[in-house]
Amino acid sequence: MSTGGAVLCGLGTWLPPHAVTNDDLARELDTSDEWIRSRTGIGTRHVVDVSTATSDLAVEAGRRALKSAGRESVDAVLLATTTPDHPCPATAPLVAARLGLGTVAAFDLGAVCTGFLYALATGAGLIAAGSAGSVLVIGADVYSTILDPADRSTRAIFGDGAGAVVLRAGEADEPGALGPPVLGSDGTGSELIIIRAGGSREPLRTVAEGHGDPYFRMAGKAVFRNAVERMAEASLTAAGRVGWAADDIDRLVAHQANLRILHAVADRMRLPRHRCPVHLDQVGNTAAASIPLALSHAVATGELEPGHRTVLTAFGGGLTWGACAVRWPAITQA
Ligand code: UT7
Repeated sequence: MSTGGAVLCGLGTWLPPHAVTNDDLARELDTSDEWIRSRTGIGTRHVVDVSTATSDLAVEAGRRALKSAGRESVDAVLLATTTPDHPCPATAPLVAARLGLGTVAAFDLGAVCTGFLYALATGAGLIAAGSAGSVLVIGADVYSTILDPADRSTRAIFGDGAGAVVLRAGEADEPGALGPPVLGSDGTGSELIIIRAGGSREPLRTVAEGHGDPYFRMAGKAVFRNAVERMAEASLTAAGRVGWAADDIDRLVAHQANLRILHAVADRMRLPRHRCPVHLDQVGNTAAASIPLALSHAVATGELEPGHRTVLTAFGGGLTWGACAVRWPAITQA
């Protein structure tokens, strides 16, 4: 097994079929298509039905990623999610079992919307350590299950979905090899994106007692500012680690939180905005699934081509952020 590099060699995604438009939301909440489009760029988002959980989406995306990679087995499964099927145990072992992957290492990883990049870095680390020759890295979230039905500011933004990639051991200079990841956190901002109840600080009983808040909350404006600064800085650092200047970046595939954020990040990096593929208009903010879903869409539309010098970047609760450079490989989507 070579430990030269971790190479991205498969990509698969899955969206629940039911799409909710801005007009659908406006029938339920005090909002409008005009407000949501102009403030976020989002047009629709997909949501699960009551019988579908994160593992269901993760299995579909994982299956497609394995097929795309031409593999029936991997040595580890990493699942980035904020919405595990259950608080305990982790969801990844169940996903691995349902994919027929046997008794491989499998664990969940929580870094909210940066989860996929943290999982990608961890998967690359397992390969670099010689612990695994291949890793299935999945980002899957069903935020529709944790949003306050009455909160227009979060319901307008978030959607459900899953995306996955396969990493394999390879050479550090071949197409698809991940550059050294850049990861960061700032726990002084932990209150900006939070589900207060249901953990050890405010146990579930506080909800039953009538004073605990079980829903996902976000201080949008403060998060917005942080997201722009951190993603731009991390992206430039990740590009620098593989010897690229800002203008060398052909595609910046950024966490799809808000079109205004994508534009502000591109502007801050002095990148033409068209180098930043947009997918949020169709799926909203899909949290840990956002980057692989955006990659898949950009490949399907031809925006992302083999050889493109690509930087992936994300920002999320924690606060957390990350970025990673990769020369896009020739892969076929299942
Ligand atoms: O994925 C993790 C990272 N997340 C992000 O990066 C998200 C970053 N933040 C954002 O994308 C934006 O801050 C939001 C889209 C969440 C909000 O946009 P904003 O331009 O920052 O609006 P705001 O929060 O300052 O709210 C302005 C007004 C408020 O009304 P008042 O208090 O001025 O009367 C909100 O209640 O807009 C109101 N508002 C809405 N109005 C209609 C909030 N959501 C809606 C809505 N429809 N859906």
